Order: sequence, then structure tokens, then C-alpha cells
Amino acid sequence: MHVLVVGGAGYVGSATSAHFLAAGHQVTVYDSLVKGHFEAIPKGAAFVKGDIGDAGALDVLFQTIQFDAVAHFAAFIEAGESMQLPGKYFFNNVVNTQNLLDAMLRHDVKRLIFSSTAGIYASKNAPLEEDDPVGPTSVYGESKLMIERMLRWYNEVSGLQYAALRYFNACGAMVDESGEPVRGEDHHPETHLIPLTLQVPLGQRDAIYIYGTDYNTPDGSCIRDYVHIEDLAAAHVLALEALGDGRDRMIYNLGNGRGYSVREVIDVARAVTGIDFPAIETDRRPGDADMLIASSERINDELGWEPRVPDLKDIMSTAWTWHTTHPNGYDDQGSADPA
Ligand SMILES: NC(=O)c1ccc[n+]([C@@H]2O[C@H](COP(=O)([O-])OP(=O)(O)OC[C@H]3O[C@@H](n4cnc5c(N)ncnc54)[C@H](O)[C@@H]3O)[C@@H](O)[C@H]2O)c1
Repeated sequence: MHVLVVGGAGYVGSATSAHFLAAGHQVTVYDSLVKGHFEAIPKGAAFVKGDIGDAGALDVLFQTIQFDAVAHFAAFIEAGESMQLPGKYFFNNVVNTQNLLDAMLRHDVKRLIFSSTAGIYASKNAPLEEDDPVGPTSVYGESKLMIERMLRWYNEVSGLQYAALRYFNACGAMVDESGEPVRGEDHHPETHLIPLTLQVPLGQRDAIYIYGTDYNTPDGSCIRDYVHIEDLAAAHVLALEALGDGRDRMIYNLGNGRGYSVREVIDVARAVTGIDFPAIETDRRPGDADMLIASSERINDELGWEPRVPDLKDIMSTAWTWHTTHPNGYDDQGSADPA
């Protein structure tokens, strides 16, 4: 299939593009580079610079290439910022996604894989299943839930086939056959716990903060489920092929089914790096849920997905290798932002 990967210069989109190519699919990345990196786009993928809010540019693209499917990663992703600038998130994530969906339908492209999030659920002290109650605690999570709701109606009314993949915490780096890290986290600003934590032993940050120690969890810090980037990417290949087989309206969690508290993540980082760096306890941030752990049984039963790198130490090791070899992220590979 020829897949249009929107947001394919970002962390998850670039890794998934590499997996689509490895599985024999054709890839065109469409990204504004508002956050992503040209250097992250795998060789073998075509690249078009553009914004999903630009209906004219999308029309030209869809007229030029007959895509079989769209994989949609383009979004703003910072839950904390979304609590200060809700309009920025509703506009880019929801309004611009509607623009993309309408462009797809105008050109009769009716298969979509959408990056959703664990952040749509209400917190629960047990693995979350897809039919569990939703209850986002941030504007970011709400924006993703609004899109999932839109997708249901685009499916019912317009026949859009879709897979909404609810990622838990994406992390780790992609390594090539020789063990070299080729793709990893490089968000600006970085807000994810693992890369932020590793900045301390890298000497780029004095300490890591633990935001909130009075959550309803055994050690008082938030608990999350960490899933390796390559496992996420592999799930998109399965979803794409299921869409190609005529499957419809798929909603799947993607996680390891095991939660780690913030304190535990920091301890694993200390063990993997061999450096006993400081952590500072501070107040809660708005928008953080106590505990989000996935049950990924549904995608395991229906598509045969299972994580190949489930252990946090292994995930952390790939991240550490990426950050030590790319302390300035993709800037270490030389910047080449094409027009
Ligand atoms: N990283 C995670 O842990 C995580 C967890 C759950 C869900 N997600 C979702 O997965 C997707 C990818 O996340 P990521 O970590 O790779 O983020 P990222 O910021 O690395 O990638 C997003 C990409 O989308 C592009 N983009 C943003 N708005 C755009 C627009 N209007 N037009 C064109 N391109 C645009 C950015 O330039 C960037 O390359 C997002 O939708 C995010 O909400 C991520």
C-alpha cells in the first residue's frame, strides 16, 4: 500500500514510517516540521512539507498521488501546555484533523490509522480496557477523545475505515541491525519522563522533578505504562494490513500491561546509567492522572500484536544509547530543513 504518513517527521511517525517501508509498503511523509525533524524521516520515504490545516495543499497532494491509507500522527502533544493554551490544542489537534478527514473523503481515501492516547481514560487502579470509562484529565486528552468521536461518525456516515491506537507512554529508541540507534526522542520542549530523567546523568539538567507524591498509588508518585517505540510501530503495520483486509472501526490499547511509578522509572534510569543522580519532590501538575496501565489483550487477540521489548530496563537502555550518541538529538546529524 502507499501510505501518507502525516506527522511522519516526529518521534512515533518516523519510526512507524521505517516499519511500513520494511514491511514493503510505500511511504510519503507530510509534515510541517513545526515539531519534527527532517533527519528522522527514513531513507526510502518521500517527503512533502506542509500543514494538515492547509486544505489546498492537501488537495494537490491527494490529486497527485493515489494513497491507499493515511497514518495520522500530526498533533501537539504536551498535556501540561494544553492546560494553559487549550485553544492551541483544540485547533491543531481537532480542527486540523477534521480538515484532513474532509480532504481524504474528497479524494476517496477511506483508510486511516489515528494516534490516540491513554490520556482519554479516567484513571483506574487496574489495566484499562478499551470499553472502560473515558474521562480525560487534560485538554490534550480531550482533544484526542473528540477526534475519536468524530471518527465514529465519519465511519458511520461516510464509510471511513479507521484504527484508533491508544498509546500509553511511547519511549525508547530504534536501533539498526548493527545496534546503532537511528531514531529516538527529540521533542522541543521535552516533557516525557524518560528523556528528561536521562538528561540528568547526561549533565544537561541538575535534577529530575517528581511532580506530586500524594497520588493514589503505592509510593505516591504517578504510575504509567511504558511501551517501546518499535512495538508501537509494529502495531501500525498490523493495523494497516487489517484495514487493507477490510477491517473497520478498530480501537486498540497499546501498552505492556505493567505500570511503573515515577520513582521506579528514576531508579531504573539510575541502574541503567550507573549514575546515582538526584530527584526532587515537588507539587502536582494539573492534568496528571494517578495511574494509567493498558490491557492490550484486544489487539493481541485480534491482530496478534505483542510487545517484543516489554522490560523497562531494555527500553531504558535503548533510550540511553540514543541520548549518549545524540546528546543534542537530531542536531547531531546536521540540520537540513528543506523548503
Ligand atoms: N509520544 C507519546 O508518548 C505519545 C503517547 C500517546 C499518543 N501520542 C500521539 O502520537 C502522535 C505522535 O507523537 P510524537 O511523540 O511522535 O510527537 P512529535 O511531536 O514528535 O510528532 C508530531 C509531528 O507532527 C507534526 N505536526 C504537528 N502539527 C502538524 C500540522 N498541523 N501539520 C503537519 N504536521 C504537524 C510535527 O511537526 C511533528 O513532526 C501524536 O498524535 C501524539 O498525540 C504520543
